[in-house]
Amino acid sequence: EELLQLAQRMPKAELHLHIEGSLEPEMVFRLALRNGVRLNYPNVNSLRAAYAFNNLQEFLNIYYTGMSVLLKEEDFFDLTWTYLTRVHQDNVVHVEMFFDSQAHLERGIPIDVQISGIRRALQNGKEQLGISSKLILSFLRHLSEEHAFETLKLAKPFLDQLDGFGLDSTEIGNPPEKFARVFARCRELGFKITAHAGEEGPPDYVYQALDLLRVDRIDHGNRSLDDAVLVHRLTDEGKTLTVCPLSNLKLCVVKDMDQHPILTMLKRGLKATVNSDDPAYFGGYVNDNYRALIEHLPVTREDLYQLARNSFEGAWITEEEKTKHL
Ligand code: HPA
Ligand code: ZN
Repeated sequence: EELLQLAQRMPKAELHLHIEGSLEPEMVFRLALRNGVRLNYPNVNSLRAAYAFNNLQEFLNIYYTGMSVLLKEEDFFDLTWTYLTRVHQDNVVHVEMFFDSQAHLERGIPIDVQISGIRRALQNGKEQLGISSKLILSFLRHLSEEHAFETLKLAKPFLDQLDGFGLDSTEIGNPPEKFARVFARCRELGFKITAHAGEEGPPDYVYQALDLLRVDRIDHGNRSLDDAVLVHRLTDEGKTLTVCPLSNLKLCVVKDMDQHPILTMLKRGLKATVNSDDPAYFGGYVNDNYRALIEHLPVTREDLYQLARNSFEGAWITEEEKTKHL
């Protein structure tokens, strides 16, 4: 009880959040109605019932379908603003969010519509909720590197509104090396880099993210634990892992929450953080993820402080901004 309250009231940063993954079934229906989009589900409950998956690909199929109701600037605004007001209740004070620009481009939504809607909500979040934020354009790894380069070109007029680049979608068969050149270009442009690695993919993909993409963080990274040398490398370099407990459970990356490796990660010196990934699909926001850990693992007060501290240390903010939060 006491631990739950502590987790609830601690100021936190969320570093692994796909904004399209915060699209709740209720909003899917609201936006479908507003935009005249036809859905293949008769009601909210039948859509929510379809949110059942056994692996990453099964989830992604539903996730890419769900976002088809996002058409206009105000849709991206409403999505982002709803997320921010929700996590404000969880005492999230800083967020670094992904958006899947290419998924929207493929549906004919211009990049300026996407970015300006999200950015306008982030600005409101700063002014009205005191939540600071970063925006990360995440390349889809099931598409080609050429497609990523074209997207980077489309983003050129808006680079001042982006803070970093990421890599997500179908991991197995799409290793980081496939995107070495485009991330080198992003780094040349001065951007931070992160990549999903070791969610379903092997430790080698985490090595590739480090060596070939030169990432600043690893998203998920669970399977790093299979390789003791890699664990040492990650701890030596102080690399943050953005871990997502409920996501791991729902996508069967872990069998049960009581098998979740996050405490092992902390014990081995890894800078693990707690994040929601796609909260509308995986059963909860940041504090729900903390609660799941507290209810199923021997979490201590010190673990909770460490996880929250790690979230600010791993954030792409200045040392001065960090000391304000720590
Ligand atoms: N992994 C890969 N791609 C994703 C995820 C994830 O957890 N969430 C949204 N896109
Ligand atoms: Zn993710």
